Amino acid sequence: MISFENYPEISREEIRAALDFCGEQIIGNLPEFTERFQNAYSEDGFYRPIENNYWTCGFWTGEIWLAYEHTRDKRLRDAGETQIRSFLNRIENKIEVDHHDMGFLYSPSCVAGYKLTGSQEGRQAAIMAADQLITRYHPVGEFIQAWGSMDAPENYRLIIDCLLNLPLLYWASEETGNAKYREIAEKHIHTAVANVIREDYSTWHTFFFNRETGAPDHGATCQGYRDGSAWARGQAWGVYGLALAYKYTGWKEYIDLFRHVTEYFLTHLPKDLVPYWDLEFTDGDDQPRDSSSASIAVCGMLEMIKYLEPEDVDHYRRIAGQIMKSLYDSYAVKDRRESNGLVLHSTYSNHSPYNTCNHYGVDECNSWGDYFYMEALIRMSREWEPYW
Ligand code: GLY
Repeated sequence: MISFENYPEISREEIRAALDFCGEQIIGNLPEFTERFQNAYSEDGFYRPIENNYWTCGFWTGEIWLAYEHTRDKRLRDAGETQIRSFLNRIENKIEVDHHDMGFLYSPSCVAGYKLTGSQEGRQAAIMAADQLITRYHPVGEFIQAWGSMDAPENYRLIIDCLLNLPLLYWASEETGNAKYREIAEKHIHTAVANVIREDYSTWHTFFFNRETGAPDHGATCQGYRDGSAWARGQAWGVYGLALAYKYTGWKEYIDLFRHVTEYFLTHLPKDLVPYWDLEFTDGDDQPRDSSSASIAVCGMLEMIKYLEPEDVDHYRRIAGQIMKSLYDSYAVKDRRESNGLVLHSTYSNHSPYNTCNHYGVDECNSWGDYFYMEALIRMSREWEPYW
């Protein structure tokens, strides 16, 4: 297993200072971002407010709840409750919810609020979101379709990111006593894991199936550099997704897969341990970073160590601390005049000659990068009950 000799780890004092700054930054943002939400990405370092109508809005509410856990400041709780009402309205009126990102939207917002404050509106909204998510299940292919209309053959595919949407379904089964959510989640996990991991343990971003038979067809990228490369965030979703897959299914095979997929991610990091937007690139390449992938992978490692033997626990905890040290030293926002976000140098959508992405949110903060950086800090600072 790779180890990063002589790299410093983030200290307890730095974790505390980082969380204190995040708490202040988020409280400072409340006047602009309580009735409205942060956009998915910043522009020149600053987020604009948007309505609650994009797949990323839950991350901002999640940051509010994490800041509430850190500070217990009532202003944060009040803002979180306002946003839960917005999420309830969104699912009741079906505003931009016909896609698979119900977990990204409703776990860090409504499940979190329910867990932390007992919010009944949060519970109701999250169960409705789980009902919405399972409408996208294809029983022949045994997966949840990511985007687009359910009867268009070109949309018959899953994406690796969806592994993070499934904890919502496990939670809904526990809350309602109805096994249907968990059964669908489990089918999707097995289909996804069986197909998105390549022989060398890099991962496909998206995977297509035969509509008639459900047989695996082919992998492709959407947001990565090219088909066959490893989009950094896809690999990071794989790291965290496999940790959650093991947590929920208990399938022993997933421990080994977690190790391999994580090793691929770690062995493709540049010297400062924060990846370029695609793992094809490394030191010396004139390409943007995706700091959010570093935080997502750290959260996955910190989740997985709950289930591993002591020497593995030490290994992954040390690496998590080393990556967080680099993020804290060289990527984290330290001054509100520089940005109203938390972590710089993320990439949302980067165009390449081989993908169909438009260029936006490149070398900026993004809302999940901020959220997972904070989740990682919280995980390092205390026993934490996950929202996922
Ligand atoms: N789930 C979409 C992304 O990671 O950009």
